[in-house]
Amino acid sequence: MKIAVLGTGGGGRAHAAKLLELGHEVTVGTRDSQVTLGRTQPDFMGIEPFGQWLADYPGIELRNFAVAAEDAELVINGIDGYHAVDVLSGIAEHLAGKILMDYAVPFVHNPERAHPWPTPWGVMPALDPVDHDSLGERIQRALPEAKVVKACVTQEQETVVDPGSVGGGDHTMFVAGEDAEAKQQVIALLRSYGWEDVLDLGPIVCSRGMEMYSHLHSAIGFAVGGRFGIKVVR
Ligand SMILES: NC(=O)c1ccc[n+]([C@@H]2O[C@H](COP(=O)([O-])OP(=O)(O)OC[C@H]3O[C@@H](n4cnc5c(N)ncnc54)[C@H](OP(=O)(O)O)[C@@H]3O)[C@@H](O)[C@H]2O)c1
Repeated sequence: MKIAVLGTGGGGRAHAAKLLELGHEVTVGTRDSQVTLGRTQPDFMGIEPFGQWLADYPGIELRNFAVAAEDAELVINGIDGYHAVDVLSGIAEHLAGKILMDYAVPFVHNPERAHPWPTPWGVMPALDPVDHDSLGERIQRALPEAKVVKACVTQEQETVVDPGSVGGGDHTMFVAGEDAEAKQQVIALLRSYGWEDVLDLGPIVCSRGMEMYSHLHSAIGFAVGGRFGIKVVR
Protein backbone atom coordinates (compact mmCIF):
# COMPACT_ATOMS: atom_id res chain seq x y z
CA MET A 1 0.00 0.00 0.00
CA LYS A 2 1.11 3.61 -0.57
CA ILE A 3 1.39 5.13 2.90
CA ALA A 4 2.42 8.66 3.87
CA VAL A 5 3.83 9.33 7.31
CA LEU A 6 3.47 13.05 7.99
CA GLY A 7 6.24 13.92 10.43
CA THR A 8 9.99 13.55 10.59
CA GLY A 9 10.27 13.11 14.38
CA GLY A 10 11.19 9.92 16.21
CA GLY A 11 7.64 8.59 15.92
CA GLY A 12 7.34 9.22 12.20
CA ARG A 13 10.69 7.53 11.62
CA ALA A 14 9.62 4.46 13.62
CA HIS A 15 6.45 4.04 11.54
CA ALA A 16 8.22 4.72 8.23
CA ALA A 17 10.95 2.14 8.90
CA LYS A 18 8.43 -0.50 9.97
CA LEU A 19 6.16 0.12 7.00
CA LEU A 20 9.10 -0.19 4.61
CA GLU A 21 10.09 -3.48 6.27
CA LEU A 22 6.49 -4.69 5.78
CA GLY A 23 6.74 -3.98 2.05
CA HIS A 24 4.72 -0.77 1.78
CA GLU A 25 5.58 2.21 -0.44
CA VAL A 26 6.50 4.83 2.14
CA THR A 27 6.71 8.61 1.83
CA VAL A 28 7.55 10.82 4.79
CA GLY A 29 6.05 14.32 4.85
CA THR A 30 7.81 17.45 6.06
CA ARG A 31 7.39 21.24 5.73
CA ASP A 32 10.22 21.70 3.25
CA SER A 33 12.19 18.64 2.19
CA GLN A 34 15.30 20.65 1.24
CA VAL A 35 15.40 22.37 4.63
CA THR A 36 14.87 19.06 6.42
CA LEU A 37 17.63 17.33 4.44
CA GLY A 38 19.92 20.29 5.05
CA ARG A 39 19.82 19.91 8.85
CA THR A 40 23.13 18.77 10.31
CA GLN A 41 22.53 19.00 14.06
CA PRO A 42 20.53 16.69 16.36
CA ASP A 43 17.24 18.20 17.60
CA PHE A 44 16.62 19.25 21.23
CA MET A 45 15.83 15.62 22.15
CA GLY A 46 19.16 14.51 20.65
CA ILE A 47 17.57 12.82 17.61
CA GLU A 48 19.96 12.62 14.65
CA PRO A 49 19.32 14.84 11.61
CA PHE A 50 16.68 13.36 9.30
CA GLY A 51 18.99 13.07 6.28
CA GLN A 52 21.46 11.01 8.29
CA TRP A 53 18.64 8.67 9.41
CA LEU A 54 17.20 8.45 5.89
CA ALA A 55 20.52 7.22 4.47
CA ASP A 56 19.89 3.89 6.23
CA TYR A 57 16.48 3.46 4.56
CA PRO A 58 16.82 3.61 0.80
CA GLY A 59 13.29 3.37 -0.56
CA ILE A 60 11.71 5.88 1.79
CA GLU A 61 10.88 9.12 -0.01
CA LEU A 62 10.84 12.54 1.64
CA ARG A 63 8.30 15.04 0.26
CA ASN A 64 6.53 18.18 1.38
CA PHE A 65 3.39 17.46 3.41
CA ALA A 66 0.95 18.11 0.54
CA VAL A 67 2.76 15.96 -2.02
CA ALA A 68 3.23 13.11 0.46
CA ALA A 69 -0.49 13.09 1.34
CA GLU A 70 -1.66 13.51 -2.25
CA ASP A 71 0.01 10.31 -3.45
CA ALA A 72 -0.97 8.14 -0.47
CA GLU A 73 -3.80 5.68 0.07
CA LEU A 74 -3.46 5.85 3.87
CA VAL A 75 -1.93 8.69 5.88
CA ILE A 76 -0.38 8.69 9.37
CA ASN A 77 -0.25 11.96 11.29
CA GLY A 78 2.91 12.47 13.33
CA ILE A 79 3.05 16.27 13.17
CA ASP A 80 3.82 18.16 16.37
CA GLY A 81 0.45 18.32 18.15
CA TYR A 82 0.38 22.11 18.49
CA HIS A 83 0.65 22.61 14.72
CA ALA A 84 -1.14 19.54 13.38
CA VAL A 85 -4.61 21.08 12.76
CA ASP A 86 -3.18 24.02 10.81
CA VAL A 87 -0.94 21.84 8.66
CA LEU A 88 -3.62 19.22 7.98
CA SER A 89 -6.27 21.86 7.22
CA GLY A 90 -3.94 23.33 4.60
CA ILE A 91 -3.76 19.99 2.77
CA ALA A 92 -7.37 18.88 3.40
CA GLU A 93 -8.06 18.29 -0.30
CA HIS A 94 -5.38 15.57 -0.35
CA LEU A 95 -6.84 13.83 2.71
CA ALA A 96 -10.50 13.76 1.64
CA GLY A 97 -11.88 10.22 1.60
CA LYS A 98 -8.68 8.77 3.10
CA ILE A 99 -7.93 7.10 6.40
CA LEU A 100 -5.88 9.40 8.62
CA MET A 101 -4.36 7.56 11.58
CA ASP A 102 -3.47 10.21 14.15
CA TYR A 103 -1.02 9.59 16.97
CA ALA A 104 -0.24 13.21 17.91
CA VAL A 105 -0.64 14.67 21.39
CA PRO A 106 -1.60 18.37 21.77
CA PHE A 107 1.34 19.33 23.96
CA VAL A 108 2.02 23.03 24.52
CA HIS A 109 5.51 23.86 25.73
CA ASN A 110 5.18 26.76 28.16
CA PRO A 111 7.71 26.71 31.00
CA GLU A 112 6.15 29.91 32.45
CA ARG A 113 2.88 28.12 33.24
CA ALA A 114 1.80 27.92 36.89
CA HIS A 115 2.51 24.71 38.84
CA PRO A 116 5.18 23.38 36.46
CA TRP A 117 6.11 19.69 36.60
CA PRO A 118 9.90 19.35 36.42
CA THR A 119 10.93 16.31 34.38
CA PRO A 120 14.32 14.80 33.48
CA TRP A 121 14.15 16.69 30.16
CA GLY A 122 12.77 20.01 31.38
CA VAL A 123 9.25 21.09 32.26
CA MET A 124 6.37 18.80 31.30
CA PRO A 125 4.32 20.38 28.53
CA ALA A 126 0.61 21.02 29.13
CA LEU A 127 -2.27 19.65 27.07
CA ASP A 128 -4.37 22.05 25.00
CA PRO A 129 -7.09 21.17 24.14
CA VAL A 130 -7.87 18.97 27.08
CA ASP A 131 -10.91 17.48 28.84
CA HIS A 132 -13.71 19.24 26.87
CA ASP A 133 -12.11 18.63 23.47
CA SER A 134 -9.16 16.79 21.95
CA LEU A 135 -6.76 17.02 19.05
CA GLY A 136 -8.33 13.95 17.45
CA GLU A 137 -11.76 15.62 17.46
CA ARG A 138 -10.33 18.92 16.19
CA ILE A 139 -8.66 17.14 13.29
CA GLN A 140 -11.89 15.30 12.43
CA ARG A 141 -13.91 18.56 12.58
CA ALA A 142 -11.33 20.35 10.42
CA LEU A 143 -11.31 17.48 7.91
CA PRO A 144 -14.90 16.23 7.71
CA GLU A 145 -14.15 14.21 4.57
CA ALA A 146 -11.21 12.34 6.08
CA LYS A 147 -11.67 9.21 8.21
CA VAL A 148 -9.70 10.01 11.34
CA VAL A 149 -8.66 7.12 13.57
CA LYS A 150 -6.89 7.97 16.79
CA ALA A 151 -4.38 5.27 17.71
CA CYS A 152 -0.88 4.63 19.03
CA VAL A 153 -1.05 7.57 21.47
CA THR A 154 -0.55 5.52 24.62
CA GLN A 155 2.87 4.09 23.68
CA GLU A 156 6.27 5.24 22.58
CA GLN A 157 6.16 4.80 18.81
CA GLU A 158 9.19 2.49 18.98
CA THR A 159 6.96 0.19 21.06
CA VAL A 160 4.02 0.72 18.71
CA VAL A 161 6.00 -0.75 15.82
CA ASP A 162 7.53 -3.52 17.96
CA PRO A 163 4.98 -4.52 20.61
CA GLY A 164 6.80 -7.80 21.28
CA SER A 165 9.71 -5.82 22.75
CA VAL A 166 7.64 -5.24 25.91
CA GLY A 167 6.18 -8.08 27.98
CA GLY A 168 6.30 -10.45 25.03
CA GLY A 169 3.66 -8.25 23.34
CA ASP A 170 0.98 -8.97 25.96
CA HIS A 171 -0.34 -5.42 26.25
CA THR A 172 -3.16 -3.31 24.85
CA MET A 173 -3.44 -0.86 21.94
CA PHE A 174 -6.45 1.47 21.62
CA VAL A 175 -8.23 2.93 18.60
CA ALA A 176 -11.11 5.41 18.32
CA GLY A 177 -12.93 7.01 15.41
CA GLU A 178 -16.26 7.50 13.67
CA ASP A 179 -15.77 5.22 10.66
CA ALA A 180 -16.01 1.50 11.47
CA GLU A 181 -14.37 0.37 8.22
CA ALA A 182 -11.48 2.80 8.69
CA LYS A 183 -10.91 1.47 12.20
CA GLN A 184 -10.86 -2.09 10.85
CA GLN A 185 -8.17 -1.12 8.33
CA VAL A 186 -6.10 0.59 11.03
CA ILE A 187 -6.51 -2.46 13.27
CA ALA A 188 -5.29 -4.64 10.39
CA LEU A 189 -2.24 -2.40 10.03
CA LEU A 190 -1.59 -2.61 13.78
CA ARG A 191 -1.90 -6.40 13.64
CA SER A 192 0.76 -6.40 10.92
CA TYR A 193 2.95 -4.46 13.40
CA GLY A 194 2.42 -7.36 15.85
CA TRP A 195 -0.47 -6.13 18.02
CA GLU A 196 -2.76 -8.90 19.23
CA ASP A 197 -4.84 -6.99 21.80
CA VAL A 198 -6.43 -3.96 20.09
CA LEU A 199 -9.36 -2.39 21.94
CA ASP A 200 -11.81 -0.23 19.94
CA LEU A 201 -12.92 2.44 22.42
CA GLY A 202 -15.67 3.77 20.15
CA PRO A 203 -16.14 7.25 18.62
CA ILE A 204 -13.51 9.95 18.11
CA VAL A 205 -14.53 11.64 21.40
CA CYS A 206 -12.52 8.86 23.08
CA SER A 207 -9.41 10.69 21.82
CA ARG A 208 -9.83 12.80 24.97
CA GLY A 209 -8.99 9.94 27.31
CA MET A 210 -6.20 8.66 25.06
CA GLU A 211 -4.53 12.08 24.91
CA MET A 212 -5.08 12.83 28.63
CA TYR A 213 -3.37 9.53 29.48
CA SER A 214 -0.11 11.10 28.26
CA HIS A 215 0.64 12.55 31.72
CA LEU A 216 0.25 9.16 33.37
CA HIS A 217 2.29 7.64 30.56
CA SER A 218 5.12 10.07 31.29
CA ALA A 219 4.90 9.52 35.06
CA ILE A 220 5.07 5.75 34.63
CA GLY A 221 7.94 6.15 32.19
CA PHE A 222 9.95 8.25 34.67
CA ALA A 223 9.23 5.71 37.44
CA VAL A 224 10.04 2.65 35.35
CA GLY A 225 12.96 4.24 33.53
CA GLY A 226 12.36 2.40 30.27
CA ARG A 227 9.80 1.04 27.87
CA PHE A 228 6.58 -0.41 29.23
CA GLY A 229 3.08 -1.35 28.08
CA ILE A 230 -0.38 -1.15 29.60
CA LYS A 231 -2.74 -4.09 29.63
CA VAL A 232 -6.51 -3.93 30.02
CA VAL A 233 -7.32 -7.08 32.00
CA ARG A 234 -10.88 -8.29 31.41
N1 LIG B 1 7.51 9.98 19.62
C1 LIG B 1 6.64 9.21 20.24
O1 LIG B 1 6.94 8.07 20.60
C2 LIG B 1 5.25 9.69 20.48
C3 LIG B 1 4.39 8.87 21.20
C4 LIG B 1 3.06 9.26 21.37
C5 LIG B 1 2.65 10.46 20.86
N2 LIG B 1 3.53 11.31 20.22
C6 LIG B 1 3.06 12.58 19.69
O2 LIG B 1 3.11 12.50 18.27
C7 LIG B 1 3.43 13.79 17.70
C8 LIG B 1 4.68 13.66 16.87
O3 LIG B 1 5.73 13.25 17.70
P1 LIG B 1 7.17 12.91 17.11
O4 LIG B 1 8.04 12.74 18.29
O5 LIG B 1 7.07 11.82 16.12
O6 LIG B 1 7.57 14.23 16.29
P2 LIG B 1 7.70 15.79 16.72
O7 LIG B 1 9.13 16.10 16.85
O8 LIG B 1 6.81 16.11 17.86
O9 LIG B 1 7.07 16.50 15.43
C9 LIG B 1 7.77 16.46 14.25
C10 LIG B 1 6.99 16.99 13.09
O10 LIG B 1 6.24 18.18 13.43
C11 LIG B 1 6.49 19.15 12.42
N3 LIG B 1 6.44 20.52 12.95
C12 LIG B 1 7.11 21.00 14.02
N4 LIG B 1 6.87 22.32 14.16
C13 LIG B 1 6.04 22.67 13.15
C14 LIG B 1 5.45 23.91 12.75
N5 LIG B 1 5.68 25.04 13.40
N6 LIG B 1 4.65 23.89 11.66
C15 LIG B 1 4.43 22.74 10.98
N7 LIG B 1 4.97 21.55 11.29
C16 LIG B 1 5.77 21.52 12.38
C17 LIG B 1 7.90 18.87 11.93
O11 LIG B 1 8.05 19.38 10.62
P3 LIG B 1 9.47 19.29 9.85
O12 LIG B 1 9.56 17.88 9.36
O13 LIG B 1 9.33 20.28 8.77
O14 LIG B 1 10.52 19.63 10.85
C18 LIG B 1 7.96 17.36 11.99
O15 LIG B 1 7.55 16.77 10.78
C19 LIG B 1 3.57 14.73 18.91
O16 LIG B 1 2.33 15.33 19.13
C20 LIG B 1 3.89 13.79 20.05
O17 LIG B 1 3.53 14.33 21.28
C21 LIG B 1 4.80 10.91 20.01
